[in-house]
Amino acid sequence: MGYAPPMEKFVIHGGIPLRGSVRVSGSKNAALPMMAACLIASGPIRLRNVPDLADVRTMAGLLQTLGVVSNVQGGVWSLHAVDDQACRADYELVRQMRASICVLGPLLARRGRGVVSLPGGCQIGHRPIDLHLKGLRALGAEIQIENGYVIASARQLRGAYVHLGGEQGSTVTGTCNVMTAACLAKGTTVIDAAASEPEVVDLGEMLVAMGARIEGLGTSHLVIQGVDELHPVDYAIIPDRIEAATLLIAAIITRGSVTIEQCLPHHMGAILDKLRETGVEVKCHRNAIQVSVTAPLKPCDTRAVPYPGFPTDVQAQWTALMTLTSGRSVVTDKVFPNRFMHVSELLRMGADIRRDGDCALITGVPQLSGAEVMASDLRASAALVLAGLAAQGQTTIHRMYHLDRGYEQLEAKLRCLGADVVRVPE
Ligand code: EPU
Repeated sequence: MGYAPPMEKFVIHGGIPLRGSVRVSGSKNAALPMMAACLIASGPIRLRNVPDLADVRTMAGLLQTLGVVSNVQGGVWSLHAVDDQACRADYELVRQMRASICVLGPLLARRGRGVVSLPGGCQIGHRPIDLHLKGLRALGAEIQIENGYVIASARQLRGAYVHLGGEQGSTVTGTCNVMTAACLAKGTTVIDAAASEPEVVDLGEMLVAMGARIEGLGTSHLVIQGVDELHPVDYAIIPDRIEAATLLIAAIITRGSVTIEQCLPHHMGAILDKLRETGVEVKCHRNAIQVSVTAPLKPCDTRAVPYPGFPTDVQAQWTALMTLTSGRSVVTDKVFPNRFMHVSELLRMGADIRRDGDCALITGVPQLSGAEVMASDLRASAALVLAGLAAQGQTTIHRMYHLDRGYEQLEAKLRCLGADVVRVPE
């Protein structure tokens, strides 16, 4: 089966300040491991607030090959593993989406075997899964790499001590994999250097609602007591903090005034702090954030690091914003040091950026100008959309299928705020 994403482009006429209010969808990076966790449940799970995204459909397709019957209605997915024989996630699906690796821990814990294609290279840099494998091996799994596949088996996982820190910090999906598997292991597992991203916490809370015993969620030290069974659950996914940040930057880069609704400001502390540093007015309510721009944007140096720091998934969008400030700034990515594919496209729009290792050195320019550019990955395509919204004239962004992996109807949301953006077949 060949994979051919739809070839569409965005055409944007920039320069319109965005105004109004817009709602954030459910979190992609919470939804994907939570969907995979249906493999360890003893009955159907029901997930609410699931965003309608290409990655979500890819995960559902993968789960179907693993014996899961799913159906979706209005953002509510029900997922039921009715056949527990299949254990293999093929290259064809895994190469479309690296988060497919999230099935490995659940397969191993519940079916005693998982065969998952190694994800391979990626536009945002080298992305090994050694920490996932280290954690699962510590729980007693036998793991080999053969013909491009991870082949893992274990009659019964056993609780153990696991340290999940790597050179770039912890691992988000690695923590999801090991934590989920440990829920059905015999005895106690301690995970140190666990990721504390809100998406990991949300998965953990869903597992707890299914009967898992997990302590320390939201910290780097998790203690998990294995249980015999995880039961069905009905669970609502948190709002997507990365989409919320992208929409906030859309408002600011166009010098507009926008309220982002149905988001959780307490998941976005580092981003909101940085926005205030640029001189933007930021008002937080319980489930909403309001921003407005009244003065020239000040440059500010930013480092993407694991949570609770500034997220790497907002680095590209932030770089686009910094191109239009009144001075120099340095944007560093400590999580994915090569995640700078957007830089060369922003240069084509008149930005002044120099790449130096894991940094982008940016000198603000008074104006970007519309151009034809190419999206290379999900967040890079969001950065180009933001630049296009601010630029003078017409911007055409090719390969928008990257954006559809992680943003639900972004162009419709932007249009609601007054943007002139249309999707056109190539
Ligand atoms: N790493 C290792 N070994 C491992 C795993 C990771 O060295 O076994 C390194 C990576 O190379 C990277 C760092 O650790 O330098 C962090 O990677 P992590 O494993 O945390 O990334 P991930 O779990 O593969 C998730 C998100 C990404 C997000 C990162 C970092 C999902 C489905 N994906 O990926 O989201 O950038 O965490 O926060 O949750 C996106 O949404 O655009 C996206 C790429």
